[in-house]
Amino acid sequence: MPDKATLKIGDKTIDLPVVQGSEEEVALDIRHLRAETGAITYDPGYANTGSCKSDITFIDGEKGILRYCGYPIEQLAERSSFLEVCSLLLNGELPNGDELQAFQRSVSRHTMLHEDVNRFYRALPKDAHPMAVCSTVVAALSTFYPHLHDLGSPERTQSAIIRLIAKLPTIAALCFKHSKGQPAIYPDNDLDYSSNFLRMMFATPCESYEPDPVIAKAVDQLLVLHADHEQNCSTSAVRLVGSSRPHLFACIAAGIGALWGPLHGGANQKVIEMLERIEREEGSAAKFVARAKDKGDSARLMGFGHRVYKNYDPRAKILRKTAIEVLDKLGVKSRLLDIGMDLEEVALNDPYFIERKLYPNVDFYSGIIYKAIGIPVPMFTVLFAMGRLPGWIAQWVEMHHQDDFRIGRPRQVYTGPTLRDYVSIEDR
Ligand code: CMC
Repeated sequence: MPDKATLKIGDKTIDLPVVQGSEEEVALDIRHLRAETGAITYDPGYANTGSCKSDITFIDGEKGILRYCGYPIEQLAERSSFLEVCSLLLNGELPNGDELQAFQRSVSRHTMLHEDVNRFYRALPKDAHPMAVCSTVVAALSTFYPHLHDLGSPERTQSAIIRLIAKLPTIAALCFKHSKGQPAIYPDNDLDYSSNFLRMMFATPCESYEPDPVIAKAVDQLLVLHADHEQNCSTSAVRLVGSSRPHLFACIAAGIGALWGPLHGGANQKVIEMLERIEREEGSAAKFVARAKDKGDSARLMGFGHRVYKNYDPRAKILRKTAIEVLDKLGVKSRLLDIGMDLEEVALNDPYFIERKLYPNVDFYSGIIYKAIGIPVPMFTVLFAMGRLPGWIAQWVEMHHQDDFRIGRPRQVYTGPTLRDYVSIEDR
């Protein structure tokens, strides 16, 4: 690969250095473009813009490859655990036995919320979307830990990180308890991360709850699969907000807000709503796919398509298999899974989807699993947020250590009115 590209604009010719990643991806360094030519780049949705260099996650969307710090997602999904993956993303290496134990111990020691945070939920409507509640509570948590906002102190930053990873399941479960009007169930630090979350969701003070290992394993795997996905919308939001150097918790609250949308993490809820609607209306997969193709119809095939994957999303491949296995182990017959598989088959054989390279993404099968294991539909995206948390944090940490760190501040091409004089109100 040549080390520079040449750009001719008007009568000016400039050289743009070529930047190459460790997997041989190629980028043009346009940092001096405006200073040298007066021009900027125009790239709505940043589809061709590399906003940073990163050592964390590699995706080859054409081949359907996803790796965290070099490790294939298939191996991590099968053999690792969520907390091990957290440690991997945060440190760049898999922890040894002692390191993992120490990490697990420090996370389990910080799972409880300050009692005043518990009370804070009461100010929020019971029918609020749990993503709104979750983002609000995470932002509010920054007011309890202002002293942890010290980017010059690795110890305080580490303390903030551990507290977030430890408390997000407690915050998430309480979002659900609040919506039901049930009392909070306090964490049980003897349980593993996912079992503890399930217990906080489903136990009540009058009924104990034994987390089913099949369900806890499925939740843990779902968290692993969602743990990072390089510069997606919510991670970019975390980096952009973080670039002005506010409290980590404020950055994560912004990430949760970005994830909530139906084009991003909110798609997992929309997939189930779509499948349930097809079931209710006794519609066929072919009929719905026809609607999704019709540009005059607002319906989209939710859980299909991806900005980066132009092949089967490897996470969807794993989750398809897990959905079948988990439902089988639990003895659950799911009509929604059948409809999902029909939809997939019709879409994958349809020229519209083939031409546009639209395949199932991570959200297509995750909701079917959540539903089968009893997670309430509005909580689906909250589980996505729990999974994505270590990725957001790892990217935030990485950003602050990068030599070329600068506040995020894109340019624009102004298309509004040119200079005109103010007109007094009586003359308008
Ligand atoms: N159903 C029907 N048509 C689609 C779909 C879909 N799900 N996705 C893309 N298309 C069409 C789109 O209309 C466009 O057609 P045309 O070229 O004729 O205008 C073409 O495919 C390219 O799509 P795009 O919207 O330009 O692609 P994008 O990269 O801007 O958007 C996406 C990616 C994920 C937002 C989009 O595929 C989508 O809306 N999918 C459904 C929502 C979804 O499942 N989101 C979860 C994404 S994966 C997990 C995550 O990030 O949280």
